[in-house]
Amino acid sequence: MNLCITGGAGFIGSYFLEQALKEIEEASGKIIVYDALTYAGETDRLNHLDSDRFIFIRGDINDRMLFRETLEKYEISHIVHFAAETHVDRSIQGDSIFLKTNVEGTWSVVTTAAEYWTANGGYTGKKFLHISTDEVYGVTTAPADENTALSPSNPYAASKAAADQYVLMRRRFDGFPAVVARSSNNFGFRQHPEKLIPKIAHCLEGNHPIPIYGDGKQKRCWLYAKDYAEILWALLTRNVSESVYNVRGSQNLENGQLAELMRNAYAKSKGISLEKVSPILFVEDRKGHDRFYNIDHSRLKSILPDFEGVKIETFLRNYFNKQ
Ligand SMILES: NC(=O)c1ccc[n+]([C@@H]2O[C@H](COP(=O)([O-])OP(=O)(O)OC[C@H]3O[C@@H](n4cnc5c(N)ncnc54)[C@H](O)[C@@H]3O)[C@@H](O)[C@H]2O)c1
Repeated sequence: MNLCITGGAGFIGSYFLEQALKEIEEASGKIIVYDALTYAGETDRLNHLDSDRFIFIRGDINDRMLFRETLEKYEISHIVHFAAETHVDRSIQGDSIFLKTNVEGTWSVVTTAAEYWTANGGYTGKKFLHISTDEVYGVTTAPADENTALSPSNPYAASKAAADQYVLMRRRFDGFPAVVARSSNNFGFRQHPEKLIPKIAHCLEGNHPIPIYGDGKQKRCWLYAKDYAEILWALLTRNVSESVYNVRGSQNLENGQLAELMRNAYAKSKGISLEKVSPILFVEDRKGHDRFYNIDHSRLKSILPDFEGVKIETFLRNYFNKQ
């Protein structure tokens, strides 16, 4: 396997690179990280990994010539496509970059890979794992399974839904070897400071009030990025039959509950009383703020029945000591 990870300098991509380094024997395949290093990309996230074991290429997914050269030079057989604009608030402020990166960028990598693979032995032994999100379903009355219609409610989610549809079209169109993973919210270390958990941590450390949208009752299902990397490895390497897999974490939390858990963990780690810790400040809700993405992951469970993820509550207990 010669593997290319787009967006490998991002939060989840870096966990996946760590997983790939564990799984691929040194002599048996190349690992390429292809990342434009936008404001969200950080090579520091890769500092703890053995840099002799992977090749970093700074490149834009919309640069088809460089992407094609990369596929050819390293004879890439497997692609895991994480690269994306990922922050919902930013997509509400301006969504053109979301369409450019998430939709056009996905078109670019899929089309380039399809051309390269078709010209080099066809699709047998090749795989394209597309990283999507549970947000594509929007809010549903019953748990959304992989056949539920997509109904995104914010520009980020719409751009991811469009990308998904393109990837799946290509699979139906000519058998392009794609699998789509739609996961719930990830937690872990090294996440960009604009995301909810690091943002709450930053407020706690600076002793500022913690802004939480609306009534704080929006609920998210939390998945450890390290667990997700393991699941993605299984989807990449096993001969799975379906085109889409929902992946959910093991614990749902309302945003207000999450902030309370973090306040408690912070107080404990500093040995101070809870009254001395930053309070929660409820602020005006954001537009299109979905209450809950309730996804059904029975399909994934049928191939990984014993998988038990780390609970976010357990992770947060040591978050401030380990950062
Ligand atoms: N973080 C989550 O909770 C979550 C949940 C579900 C799905 N996802 C999906 O997982 C994927 C990774 O999310 P993340 O949180 O790690 O994102 P991130 O924002 O931390 O990282 C994105 C990475 O993509 C790179 N990138 C952006 N535009 C690029 C371009 N044009 N060309 C090449 N590289 C580019 C950035 O430099 C960065 O390294 C995304 O596709 C996202 O939609 C994330």
